Amino acid sequence: MHPFDLKTSELLDFTCVKIPSARLLLTTSLNRYRKDIFREFNTDIIQYMLPKPAEKIEETMTFINDSLTGMRGGWNLVLAITLKAGREFLGCCGLHGEGRHRTPELGIWVKKSAHGHKYGREAIQALAFWACEHLDLDYLIYPVDRANIPSRKIAESLGGQVFEEKQVKTARGGFLDEVKYKLTINDILKEKPQKKFPAIYTPEEQALKP
Ligand SMILES: CC(C)(COP(=O)(O)OP(=O)(O)OC[C@H]1O[C@@H](n2cnc3c(N)ncnc32)[C@H](O)[C@@H]1OP(=O)(O)O)[C@@H](O)C(=O)NCCC(=O)NCCS
Repeated sequence: MHPFDLKTSELLDFTCVKIPSARLLLTTSLNRYRKDIFREFNTDIIQYMLPKPAEKIEETMTFINDSLTGMRGGWNLVLAITLKAGREFLGCCGLHGEGRHRTPELGIWVKKSAHGHKYGREAIQALAFWACEHLDLDYLIYPVDRANIPSRKIAESLGGQVFEEKQVKTARGGFLDEVKYKLTINDILKEKPQKKFPAIYTPEEQALKP
C-alpha cells in the first residue's frame, strides 16, 4: 500500500495524531473507546453506510487493529471523535488512502444521541484542514448516499461538488445510491479558521463552558 505523501520531510507517526477543533478532540486512541465503538456503531447508524454493525466486540477489535495497521503504514487515519471537555466519545471519522493516497476518502459516523449538534461537520472540517496542512494531496473525496442530507451538507460545507454517481453494494446485501463529492484543497482552505485550537480547554474556554 502506498503511504500518503507528507508535506515535510519530518516523520509523522499517524498512530499519535491528535486533532483539536473548537469543541472536539479527534484522537487515534481507538482502543480506549472500543466498548463505545461496539455499542454505538449499531443499526441506527448504518442505514447509509457500507459496513454492518459488529455482532461481537472481537469484530470491533478487528476494525481497530486493521485501522492501526493502516496508520502504521501511513495510508489510513482513523480517529475517535471526542468532546474536549471530559473526553466523551461521540463517534469515528477517517481519511482512507488505501489504493488512493493522493485522493483519499473521508468517512464519518456520530452516535445517535449526539446527532444534530454540528459535531459531524466540525469533525470532518477539522480532519480535512489537518489533511491539507500535513499531506500532499490532489483532492479529497466524500462518498455519501443521495438521501443522507446531513452528510451531504457536511461535504457541501467544504465546497464539495458531486462528480460521480453509482449504486454500491453494502455488507448487508443491499445497495447505496452513492454520490461522490470532490473537495478541492483550495475550497477546503477557504473555510479554515486562522485560529489554532488547543488540545485541551484553556482556562478562558473552561470559564465559558455552560
Ligand atoms: C451524517 C452525520 C455524521 C452528521 O452528523 P451530525 O453531527 O448529526 O450533523 P451536523 O449536526 O454536523 O449537521 C450537518 C448539517 O446537516 C444538517 N442537518 C442535521 N440533521 C439534519 C436533518 N435531520 N435533516 C436535514 N439537515 C440536517 C445540519 O443543520 C447541518 O447543516 P448546516 O451545516 O447547513 O447547518 C450523522 O448523521 C451520522 O453519523 N449519521 C449516521 C452515519 C452516516 O450516515 N455517516 C455518513 C456516511 S457518508
